[in-house]
Amino acid sequence: KGKARKLAKHSDVEIKQAAVLGAGIMGGGIAYQSAYKGTPIVMKDIQQDALDLGMGEASKLLGAKVKRGHMPMEKMLATLSKIKPTLNDADLQNANIIVEAVVENPKVKQAVLADLEKNLPEGTVLTSNTSTICIDLLAEALDKPENFCGMHFFNPVPKMPLVEIIRGAKTSDKTINAVVDYALKLGKSPIVVNDCPGFFVNRVLFPYFAGFSKLVVEGANFAKVDKVMENVFGWPMGPAYLLDVVGIDTAYHCTGVMADGFPERMARAEKDPVTVFANEKRFGQKNKAGFYKYE
Ligand code: CAA
Ligand code: NAD
Repeated sequence: KGKARKLAKHSDVEIKQAAVLGAGIMGGGIAYQSAYKGTPIVMKDIQQDALDLGMGEASKLLGAKVKRGHMPMEKMLATLSKIKPTLNDADLQNANIIVEAVVENPKVKQAVLADLEKNLPEGTVLTSNTSTICIDLLAEALDKPENFCGMHFFNPVPKMPLVEIIRGAKTSDKTINAVVDYALKLGKSPIVVNDCPGFFVNRVLFPYFAGFSKLVVEGANFAKVDKVMENVFGWPMGPAYLLDVVGIDTAYHCTGVMADGFPERMARAEKDPVTVFANEKRFGQKNKAGFYKYE
């Protein structure tokens, strides 16, 4: 923390406006948090439905604060007005920092980042919220990799303090400092980490998910595993419920990247539940069916 604050003091990039690409679970959360902490943000998606969902979620979270008497109605409206939902690339022009939060697919992310770089003013800080994909691989698509790094938030964004900032081989100190600064502005606790598949947290979390999936293939009851992890081991969520929260589609893509990077740690079993559910389009809470069903 001390180190991060010192770095932030030296950042000379002023973040007056941010943008996020993707209005899904993470993009919506990032937009909410930025607006809540006072930095206006443009939220861009390719689907109007996704924008509506993202805005709806932000209104719900803010509405709950008003209801509990933690926020006056005017502040709620002012906060909501700091999020600009859009389908239009031209609205990204004034952002000093952009967080890419589209699907966990290297080819899609590379195309999106290259396109952004081409059409934005020089000096815009580009970041990716990728869970697992190496920053250096994404940077290959860019002419100015020095302006790019990972900015990995955790789900749910409004509640999880950690943000991993991933330094690629060519990332400049200026970029890292600006991103640390923005993370602190969002009220988060940033850590700067080196690049590898899964960075720090998902290098630990995804082998745990893989171990859990193997247990299920071997006959363990997922709901009983969750109960033990939650009620006896004391974690807030067991692995099956957490996979539903993350999104099984996202977890499936992350598992692939991690298995390529660390085959020895990723106990892959044939017909593991993440692969089966991903193929059946049971994506977890986002479409109301995963390990569990949701109303
Ligand atoms: N979005 C926003 N706020 C939420 C929320 C959500 N999805 N879920 C709960 N909250 C809020 C509640 O509204 C409540 O707000 P107030 O304090 O203002 O009242 C607060 O959180 C506490 O809610 P609860 O009492 O219901 O929940 P809790 O105190 O037990 O904790 C939690 C909630 C912090 C999310 C906890 O359940 C937790 O730590 N879960 C584990 C989450 C986790 O491991 N995330 C990492 C996923 S992996 C990842 O993100 C990386 C990746 O790349 C895939
Ligand atoms: P999601 O499926 O909820 O949302 C993805 C959104 O991106 C969708 O709304 C989709 O319409 C949009 N999109 C796709 N292509 C686009 C494009 N070209 N331009 C703009 N928008 C586009 O996914 P998510 O869970 O929010 O994950 C997004 C990223 O964040 C992934 O890289 C994921 O690995 C990472 N991440 C996810 C979690 C998590 O727990 N879900 C946690 C940390 C990081």
